[in-house]
Amino acid sequence: MNDMHDLEVILRSHFPIITIESHEERRATELLARAAAKLGQCFHLWTITDGLRPHKYNSDTLELVDADTEEFNTEPEHDPIKALRKIKASTQPGIYALLDFHDHFDDAVIVRLIKEIAQDHNIEGKTLVLISHEIQLPAQIAHFSASFDLSLPDKDKIKQLLMDEAKVWALKNGNNVKADPEAMELLITNLVGLTVSDTKRFLRSAIHNDGAITHDDLPDIQKAKYDLIGQDGLVSFEYDTAKFSDVGGMKQLKQWLDRRKALFTSPEQSNTLDAPKGILLVGVQGGGKSLTAKAVAGVWGVPLLRLDFGVLYNKFFGETEKNIRKALKLAEVMAPCVLWIDEIEKGIATGDYDSGTSKRLLGTLLTWMAESNKHVFIVATANDIQALPPELIRKGRLDEIFFVDLPNNETRQEIFRIHINKRQHDTNNFDLGLLADHSDGFSGAEIEQAIVGACYSAVAEEISLNSNHVLEEIGRTKPLSIVMQEKISSLRAWAKNRTVPAD
Ligand SMILES: Nc1ncnc2c1ncn2[C@@H]1O[C@H](COP(=O)(O)OP(=O)(O)OP(=O)(O)O)[C@@H](O)[C@H]1O
Ligand SMILES: [Mg+2]
Repeated sequence: MNDMHDLEVILRSHFPIITIESHEERRATELLARAAAKLGQCFHLWTITDGLRPHKYNSDTLELVDADTEEFNTEPEHDPIKALRKIKASTQPGIYALLDFHDHFDDAVIVRLIKEIAQDHNIEGKTLVLISHEIQLPAQIAHFSASFDLSLPDKDKIKQLLMDEAKVWALKNGNNVKADPEAMELLITNLVGLTVSDTKRFLRSAIHNDGAITHDDLPDIQKAKYDLIGQDGLVSFEYDTAKFSDVGGMKQLKQWLDRRKALFTSPEQSNTLDAPKGILLVGVQGGGKSLTAKAVAGVWGVPLLRLDFGVLYNKFFGETEKNIRKALKLAEVMAPCVLWIDEIEKGIATGDYDSGTSKRLLGTLLTWMAESNKHVFIVATANDIQALPPELIRKGRLDEIFFVDLPNNETRQEIFRIHINKRQHDTNNFDLGLLADHSDGFSGAEIEQAIVGACYSAVAEEISLNSNHVLEEIGRTKPLSIVMQEKISSLRAWAKNRTVPAD
């Protein structure tokens, strides 16, 4: 994208008002001054502190400097109304940039003056450019306006900025920045969507803490990016992700995700393949669905965002659909990322007692999934198949629906190993085969609970944890396969022709 070209197109289209929503004031005003010079127009800048002054772009120093003109060489006008009157009275066609002017929009005189200047645009050729981080134009003047977006740096540009920051660090510290190539690639991918100045700031913080770029820098950068743009809390940032090694079993699912890792994280290298859109994990309680969702983000090295339909309903009552659009937009800015929708059936129940809101919510989500070309990968989970709307599970909506069944013997051994290890015990001291044989019908969560309980018994007995402690806990547990026998059978029957086994 060429900013100068695009700005010129807008200026030549004769919109009386142009809005630029950006934190990068300096870049915006320099660009405007250069565009004005190219079009042979004068350029003025107003701020509440410096008043209205003529400026020009100095191509030698690459800076914006004061310009002398006869008409404006009196004391600069600070008062916004007087400044607008002065612009209105001026005979010079040109570009007038007003910074943070939105603070004054509740004054009827201001809005009226802007409208009058806009209406005279055809005769006098004066363009007002409003620059602020956020601009909501009053209705009277909104239809005179066009908005212009400053382009954001692409991956090559971010790489360049990274090199520049690394050079600065090396000069200051006398040695080079150490960089893990994969972490560097992921860091660059994670910074897409930010402005030049924010990118520089984040790169500096990643380099300056230890003079290296490693995987450890990623969560902090992702969190900082989220904090910058996700302030309305419609999606939450999950700092804790997981690794595949934390998840027992799920062999097929892991392989499926592994095959798509490169495609998702470095899309430019695999541009002949379609980006994966998302998966649905259906299965028994405590089977590790939520854990797996976290692992997708962890393994791909991308941010994990959580979308909770309950929050969308409650945040601003009556604005549910607007909320979901905002939430999805935010996810697009964070892309590539994983958008985790836990227990999706709870947010979009098939019943129609909510006057169709949940239906429209699902419709918005599905349309967006079909149309968005950003790398936002949805991982949705569900327990209750009865409540799943047929639109969601229709072929082609999601890439795949995986069924997470109770773990088999081999997977149970693996889950025991993971949780014994996690609590700093040596798995060689345990008979994992025996534990697996005795825990037929247990879910992953129940296996974890058996270990947790056994740890307490061991502490009470003041001996180190062993297989017998775990076997005793297993004996005390009534597993899900018994308590919810019917539900699990019907879940399996449903899953048979509709889903792919995760393990
Ligand atoms: N396959 C597994 N491997 C390792 N740990 C597991 C596995 N399945 C479950 N667990 C353990 O059980 C905990 C709970 O599982 P999780 O919340 O992921 O299950 P779930 O399928 O989302 O359950 P629910 O349907 O109740 O939400 C996990 O945090 C993990 O510690
Ligand atoms: Mg869960």
